[in-house]
Amino acid sequence: MENLSLYNHDRLPTVGLGLWKIPKPDAAETVHDAIKAGYRHLDSACDYGNETEVGHGIKRALSQDLCKRDELWVTSKLWNTYHKKEHVRPALERTLKDLQLDQLDLYLIHFPIAQKFVPFEVRYPPEWLYENSKESSQIQFANVPIQETWTAMEQLVREGLVRNIGICNFGTTMLRDLLTYAEIHPSVLQVERHPYLVQAKLLRFCQEANIALTGFSPLGAGSYLELGMAEPGDSVLNETLIGEIAGSHGKTPAQVILRWGIQQGASVIPKSTKVERLRENLDVFDFVLTDLEMASISKLDRNQRFNDPGVFAEKAFNTFCPIYE
Ligand code: A2P
Repeated sequence: MENLSLYNHDRLPTVGLGLWKIPKPDAAETVHDAIKAGYRHLDSACDYGNETEVGHGIKRALSQDLCKRDELWVTSKLWNTYHKKEHVRPALERTLKDLQLDQLDLYLIHFPIAQKFVPFEVRYPPEWLYENSKESSQIQFANVPIQETWTAMEQLVREGLVRNIGICNFGTTMLRDLLTYAEIHPSVLQVERHPYLVQAKLLRFCQEANIALTGFSPLGAGSYLELGMAEPGDSVLNETLIGEIAGSHGKTPAQVILRWGIQQGASVIPKSTKVERLRENLDVFDFVLTDLEMASISKLDRNQRFNDPGVFAEKAFNTFCPIYE
């Protein structure tokens, strides 16, 4: 339960640390604290803008022998501006350099959205806009089929630069298409998942296709409040049901929600910069939710997605960019 076995028998630790939104000044310390607390799975991305600092944290932990490199699972993600085949390898090499690693355990396509290329010298990470100016404040798309990107990702596995490849923010339709041409099987699909967005069919599809599912934002709305992407009433942590179940197991609401997340055979990557919460979020292996508790938590489903380019891209970048419909 503490690891998920992937199609190739690699083992993905079920609870990882999500590194999105960890401010640069905190990132090295948080990574070091997390590894010290027992985390063996880090979920990074070019777009998070903190890979250099994350690399410092990893280096410090490894040099203190808190764990060995081969005991640590490091994921990163290919940003939207690097989907063309000639940009995939340089993007990965930049991530490896920043993280001070010579191999990733997992490299994911961050979004099924291809944007116009922005050279490293112009801006890194390039984020969502082609030009960082008010005159050109829309997303500029590029015509790159996912197959081209995937084939270039496969080459990274063949060259030993990454052990596994996968995708984020895909639904079953795109996965079905990918599986028709993939020569190297996608190890992991990463999507938003919490009790308000249960994704039951997607999880079942992935399990039948031998693709591990990682849920980001597994605690729900919390981190979206400060981004203006959720309302205070959207917090699943405050559900009476969750509080009652937590009380009966002597655990916290966050631990119950994370336990629900992993007990169906998925992995979770909660973010926190607080040492107490890092420990709390990893301490979910000493209790089991009953079938009834699991089912009642799943019934909280509202199909409510907080991280949706079809919503935030219009507000922030004046560009209508739905991908889930
Ligand atoms: P903090 O970093 O201050 O602990 P994400 O959705 O990216 O996984 O972010 C998780 C959000 O939930 C963050 O805002 C984080 O804030 C907060 N959080 C993390 N762990 C806990 C916890 N155990 N209880 C309550 N909130 C948590």
